[in-house]
Amino acid sequence: MRRVIFRSKEELFERASALFARRSAEAIERRGRFLVALSGGKTPRPLYERLTTEPYPREIDWPCVQVFWSDERCVPPEDPASNYRSAREALLDRVPIPAENVHRIHGELPAEDATVRYGEELETVLGTAGRFDLVLLGIGDDGHTASLFPKHEALEEAERAAVAVETLSPARVTLSLPMLNRAREVVFLVTGRGKREVLGRLDAGEDLPAARVRPDDGRLLWLVDREAAPR
Ligand code: 6PG
Repeated sequence: MRRVIFRSKEELFERASALFARRSAEAIERRGRFLVALSGGKTPRPLYERLTTEPYPREIDWPCVQVFWSDERCVPPEDPASNYRSAREALLDRVPIPAENVHRIHGELPAEDATVRYGEELETVLGTAGRFDLVLLGIGDDGHTASLFPKHEALEEAERAAVAVETLSPARVTLSLPMLNRAREVVFLVTGRGKREVLGRLDAGEDLPAARVRPDDGRLLWLVDREAAPR
């Protein structure tokens, strides 16, 4: 696990954008496509916006990119709380990605139905026991990541690629830990003073959901700005 601390959010998102572009080029060169799961929440929005500006439109071959999400709230796709809507507005509507390459979680369905549908789409596109080239994640104040919350049974899902979290309101659909830990690379994006305390708990070895994301055979990178870095 590597952690890189940046003087500013801007520098962090510059690095994250360049990494996204580099990994996409590597994956497309080696395997003909780039399989990525976008994070929800507010943190990654500057990254998504940065990917729409030079030099990235020339560097990312969007017709070869397959976009998924790490998790979704069970709300309609046009709902302000939708992770799909956030990424669509900031990025997907502004790059030449074919509609069929965008695999949103159908939050308008009941959580379990959306989970089954998403699991089938993951299987169809990635293949059985398929793995993402890159998964972007954030961390919540309580140490959750994606929609894997502390002490929730979803954390124990050992088989399925996606799992429903119905004890929240709105309910959620999330990639499971096995699916996250199958990734070739997981990058956490963490900014702001509000994350310092939870990163301190992580560093103290607390068994937080985010601490359980450790790719079996892949890279783990934490990009943290100075505001969020524990002293
Ligand atoms: C979600 C995210 C969630 C998020 C963290 C951090 O659906 O909310 O997937 O895991 O990454 O809660 O959220 P912020 O980036 O808004 O702080």
